[in-house]
Amino acid sequence: MTLALLTIVVSAAPRFLAPGPVAQTTREQVRVFVETDGPLSLSGADGGCSVGPRFRLDGGATLAHCTFTLAPGRTVVSASTPDDGGVLTAEAVLSRYVTTSTLPAGVEAQGFGPGTAHRPEVESVCAQCHQMERADGGSAVAFCSTCHAEVTQRKIMHGPVQQGACLACHQETSTPTRYAVRWPIQETCFNCHVDIKAAMATKAFRHGPAAAGRCTTCHDPHGSDQPFWLKKHAYDLCTNCHTEKRGERHVVVGFVYGDSHPLRGRPHPLKDRTEFSCPSCHNPHAAQSRFLWQFDVTNRESLCRTCHQK
Ligand code: HEC
Ligand code: HEC
Ligand code: HEC
Ligand code: HEC
Ligand code: HEC
Ligand code: HEC
Ligand code: HEC
Ligand code: HEC
Repeated sequence: MTLALLTIVVSAAPRFLAPGPVAQTTREQVRVFVETDGPLSLSGADGGCSVGPRFRLDGGATLAHCTFTLAPGRTVVSASTPDDGGVLTAEAVLSRYVTTSTLPAGVEAQGFGPGTAHRPEVESVCAQCHQMERADGGSAVAFCSTCHAEVTQRKIMHGPVQQGACLACHQETSTPTRYAVRWPIQETCFNCHVDIKAAMATKAFRHGPAAAGRCTTCHDPHGSDQPFWLKKHAYDLCTNCHTEKRGERHVVVGFVYGDSHPLRGRPHPLKDRTEFSCPSCHNPHAAQSRFLWQFDVTNRESLCRTCHQK
């Protein structure tokens, strides 16, 4: 009797510690933490996830760390532990969204989804092995970088990130998740960029995505390898939404040329070390004309003449 009982493998179902059972993120790579006391396999996202080293928690269960690469949209990730005669499975639904789309309910208010790692019930588990509080008076960036080094390794970095001022935008004591940003995201930016705030309020016409307050549709708040920390080259960024402008003859310049105006790859005639592209003629935030022309001009002629004096 006793012997038979001992041979039965009794496992508890795996449990997703972070992200929570339903989570949203904007990032391509998300780290997953699963608690279980038996063998574990993870599947779901592109290429699956090979479970790395397991760490023993207080109480005997183990914790697995794993990094998934997420395609945009919804991904169901499942964690399985074999049990006597069957398999115990837990699922987590991870949604990777692009900030342009309508955000899932609940996210709007908070800035980040409800399932992030920085919740007290999760942080208390991590704290068994990791420092989860910034040293008294210590710099935020040194602390955050132990887990978020990629944020501080951009080719061109945004001023406050360069200075390590993570907490200028991320609130250390926000609830229910820490490190939320002011929302909608434009409120985070308007704290410092009062000129853009004023332009958005006073110019006659506003550009759709900027008017929606989604500055990070185009800008990475930390930095990127593009000027103005754009997420892509300006031409690719604009034609990502205005797809018909890709390869189109835009601003046909008369019979003589019978061709499109150049749309990229030439030097900007009025700005040093700047490449000419879509934002050279269109203001991406707000302007005085319906077509969002730069320089606050209100007719086509004045636009052309700004660069082509005759
Ligand atoms: C039982 C101990 C333990 C617990 C609990 C634990 N970790 Fe870890 N974690 C480790 C160890 C040890 C490493 C280093 C692994 C290595 O270097 O290969 C690590 C590595 C990491 C890394 C990778 C750091 C890097 O270089 O990118 C991150 C991120 C991380 N842990 C986050 C967490 C979070 C979040 C939690 C809570 C959900 C957590 N860990 C819970 C032991 C633990
Ligand atoms: C022990 C490791 C660890 C430390 C230290 C840490 N983080 Fe995190 N943080 C994580 C993990 C893990 C996630 C989950 C997302 C991921 O990276 O995969 C996360 C998520 C976040 C998110 C939300 C991301 C999202 O997509 O929902 C923000 C914002 C954030 N951290 C900011 C900070 C800031 C600011 C600091 C420093 C004050 C900090 N973190 C310190 C591990 C850590
Ligand atoms: C804590 C203050 C602060 C906040 C908040 C802030 N910025 Fe900045 N930003 C700066 C400073 C300082 C500079 C100028 C130094 C530099 O070039 O990095 C700057 C520069 C920029 C530039 C480049 C300007 C130029 O002329 O080169 C862009 C683009 C930008 N920020 C976008 C944003 C966006 C988008 C947000 C919101 C997610 C934001 N900023 C939030 C302080 C801030
Ligand atoms: C200028 C404001 C600003 C500063 C400074 C800043 N962040 Fe952020 N951060 C944001 C915003 C806004 C988001 C949300 C982006 C989104 O949803 O598109 C974000 C997102 C994040 C995320 C989650 C997802 C991602 O995009 O990687 C992490 C992690 C993070 N920040 C860590 C940090 C760390 C660490 C620092 C300091 C080195 C820092 N941030 C400094 C504004 C800032
Ligand atoms: C549609 C994409 C897009 C959106 C949305 C957007 N920007 Fe920009 N932003 C750009 C581009 C492109 C430039 C570079 C303009 C140029 O080359 O003259 C820029 C430049 C900037 C600059 C520096 C130059 C300047 O005009 O002062 C700041 C600061 C800035 N953006 C902040 C913001 C803030 C704050 C928001 C949210 C209200 C925002 N942006 C939304 C595309 C965008
Ligand atoms: C996230 C998608 C998105 C991105 C990226 C984007 N736009 Fe737009 N753009 C829109 C939307 C939405 C409108 C509003 C369309 C409408 O109301 O007719 C718009 C309107 C415009 C208009 C006015 C069109 C009209 O008929 O009045 C111009 C000009 C424009 N965008 C140029 C740009 C440029 C230049 C860039 C790159 C800096 C850019 N857009 C990037 C979504 C985008
Ligand atoms: C040389 C200046 C110039 C450049 C560069 C330029 N545009 Fe335009 N754009 C204009 C003018 C002028 C108009 C008004 C319609 C016209 O005269 O063709 C316009 C109109 C538009 C419109 C609204 C009307 C329509 O045709 O759909 C959009 C959207 C637009 N541009 C997007 C872009 C994008 C995206 C790029 C980069 C691929 C770009 N523009 C580059 C000058 C320019
Ligand atoms: C922001 C500056 C700027 C504005 C505004 C501008 N252009 Fe241009 N234009 C350029 C640049 C840069 C070139 C490429 C010159 C070169 O490669 O030598 C160019 C080239 C041209 C050419 C020669 C075409 C070719 O293939 O060489 C014509 C014609 C022209 N533009 C007409 C216009 C017209 C019409 C407008 C108004 C709708 C206009 N431009 C607005 C900067 C501008």
